[in-house]
Amino acid sequence: MTVVHVTGARPNFPKAAPVVKALAARGVPQLLVHTGQHYDDRMSEVFFEQLAIPRPDVNLGVGSGSHAQQTAAVMIGIEQVLLDNDPSLVVVYGDVNSTVAAALVAAKLHVPVAHVEAGLRSFDREMPEEINRLLTDQLSDLLFATSADAIGHLAREGVPDEKIHFVGNPMIDTLLANIDRFDVARARAEHGLEGDYAVATLHRPANVDDDASAARVVGALRALAAHYTVVFPVHPRGRQRLLDNGLADVPEVLLTEPLGYIDFMSLVRGAGCVVTDSGGVQEETTVLGVPCLTLRTTTERPVTITNGTNRLVAFDDLPDAVAEVARAGRPVTWKVPPLWDGHAGERIADIIAARRA
Ligand code: UD1
Ligand code: UDP
Repeated sequence: MTVVHVTGARPNFPKAAPVVKALAARGVPQLLVHTGQHYDDRMSEVFFEQLAIPRPDVNLGVGSGSHAQQTAAVMIGIEQVLLDNDPSLVVVYGDVNSTVAAALVAAKLHVPVAHVEAGLRSFDREMPEEINRLLTDQLSDLLFATSADAIGHLAREGVPDEKIHFVGNPMIDTLLANIDRFDVARARAEHGLEGDYAVATLHRPANVDDDASAARVVGALRALAAHYTVVFPVHPRGRQRLLDNGLADVPEVLLTEPLGYIDFMSLVRGAGCVVTDSGGVQEETTVLGVPCLTLRTTTERPVTITNGTNRLVAFDDLPDAVAEVARAGRPVTWKVPPLWDGHAGERIADIIAARRA
């Protein structure tokens, strides 16, 4: 009986890679579905190539649209895939629209759902991801948690203990499996970086969807550029709005297309500071010991603050926070959250394989 994986957006791919690999090693038949939520080569194809993820068996080609359009298109496509393949389990990843759409369809067809990265909560329902997380967890039969706080949230929401498994973080499996390929010197040469540099990634709706927010982001990048040359791989969501609000006018900010995983992580590994609103980047900087300033008021990943190098910063406080990081430099020692050890995919695969036995 087949395990169907549903992926669709950039953060799904590094999370799915180790799970697919570990299930293959255990001889479990698998079908990989790409919803097509992300479709530019640099948001999708490059991850399959660089992380040696098998080609998707099915691409639903849903593309962009409003939340309802995108979610509905994934639901219609996934329903047919599940009817055609009669799987024993559907595995969904993270908190994107493809995740909740697939979980809802599977649950209604009585196909068990496994949620990788269950239980994260920002407690901010203005984030579309928070709605996706809450609903996906309610629909899931196997909930794979990356941190202890996530288990607490699930328990409080009434999820029975036996459904919850603390497995560690598959995103970090991918990081640790590839760390020898993160070549800071090559990244410096490719991007023409000589002294200290910072990396910025900002794409949340709250930061890029209107002019006032986009102008604030450009102001934040100026503050960062006062201390560092900044490399900013621009997510397609915010590109035009940020350009309309002066992004190209800060000479110390080098704009690039979205980067492939290895190039991006090579840059992050050597950075003096990262400024972000990304979920995954908060985790990656934590493991690499790179100071991370997160331009958000909440995080669903508080373990990156308590055990890592992350700090939530208000826009007004960013200039001081950057100055502090520039003065202090990178930490010499740092903690890494429990079980972020490179073996989460294997733990997940063991649990799935045991269930099928
Ligand atoms: C989605 C996720 C978000 C995640 C982000 C990671 C949801 C609700 N949001 O946000 O949680 O952090 O992915 O990157 O699922 N676009 C392109 N090319 C692409 C994909 C998108 O140009 O390959 C542009 C389109 O204009 C599109 C916009 O980006 O309308 C937004 O894409 P969408 O998938 O709706 O949401 P993201 O902002 O990417
Ligand atoms: N990433 C990348 N190139 C980039 C930006 C990000 O390879 O230019 C990787 C990085 O590993 C990150 C992951 O893509 O953790 C997902 O990032 P994104 O910010 O898109 O999603 P989020 O984690 O915020 O949902």
